[in-house]
Amino acid sequence: MPFQIICNDITKIECDAIVNAANKSLLGGGGVDGAIHRAAGRELLEECKTLGGCETGDAKITKGYKLPSKYIIHTVGPVWHGGRFGEEQLLRSCYRRSFELALQYNCESIAFPLISAGVYGYPKQEAFEIALEETKEFLKDNEMQVFIVVFDKNAFEFDSFLHDNVSSYIEDNYTGKDASKNSDKFAASFKRLYDLPSAVSRYDSGVQFDSECRVMASYAPSVSFCISTNNKIRDLIVLDDAFAVKLLKLIDAKGMTDVECYKKANVSRQTWYKIMNDKEYKPSKATVLCFAIALELNLRETNLLLKSAGYALSDSILFDVIIEYFISNGDYDIFVINETLFEFDQPCLGVLL
Ligand code: APR
Repeated sequence: MPFQIICNDITKIECDAIVNAANKSLLGGGGVDGAIHRAAGRELLEECKTLGGCETGDAKITKGYKLPSKYIIHTVGPVWHGGRFGEEQLLRSCYRRSFELALQYNCESIAFPLISAGVYGYPKQEAFEIALEETKEFLKDNEMQVFIVVFDKNAFEFDSFLHDNVSSYIEDNYTGKDASKNSDKFAASFKRLYDLPSAVSRYDSGVQFDSECRVMASYAPSVSFCISTNNKIRDLIVLDDAFAVKLLKLIDAKGMTDVECYKKANVSRQTWYKIMNDKEYKPSKATVLCFAIALELNLRETNLLLKSAGYALSDSILFDVIIEYFISNGDYDIFVINETLFEFDQPCLGVLL
């Protein structure tokens, strides 16, 4: 199932279980604990009184009461004392124990706050990375929709090295809404996208730009087809198979299994079955990109796959430019990609399919 990183109040999330960053007494407190108890109502406290508390790193489950979620999983994160007192292992244990209870209670979806990243003082970036790593590990062998709920995005310092690289790539390539003002940028990036020899002028390739410097779609295919398709992967992409058939051939060519592919694409099993069984299925652009990432297609192959479904990457779409950054750099980790998309206020890949 896809994981999503979202900015929201966890008490508003409609899913089978939300996780509470509680304290050992389980009798309520401030932060997310206070918000959950206020939203769930008094009955929650009454049930919590029967649980006998909870050890750090462990988790216990109650009903959700007035919350939209069926259950609340209360876990107690470690207080940060500098990192030399087993805090990391205890924090990881909070996620693992919460996932165990969610499985035990047949939950199909779960929402986590950033445990220990508030009052308990765990460094936010590390707390965030641990949440993603434990989610990634869990989803390797399990199917569950996971929400990582960030309450205060401004409190984040994302990975500065990656942030700087993506930011400068955006600066160099994103044409934003004023595409016409960036015609040279747009022309240069069009060549990059279709891998045209740099010597080709913006007209030699048979490509013309309208006044708004938008590529005349009818030209793009001819340009892409003028590129030799002597690559086995590219040959599979340009066939006019249905998307599902194309996917299966590419998975086979890449030596992957179906499950490996759709999990790496951050796509749910249900969506995979829909793609494989709905004769009328037409993939969204985001779906095509998920699988381009999962199949580790290069930029040219990605554009061919997009074009075969009637889409193209666009430099005037920030989401596309960020995806292009990762494909150009051969970085296909969808967790890192989604963390970066979240940072730039873009939807995660693997949702809204
Ligand atoms: N929805 C989602 N996330 C929230 C919400 C909310 N309504 N309120 C706070 N958060 C975020 C915080 O911004 C922080 O990133 O949850 C994360 C955890 O912060 P805390 O709630 O302070 O939890 P924690 O750091 O684990 O400390 C637990 O605080 O509230 C008390 O009783 C609790 O003693 C326990 C301690």
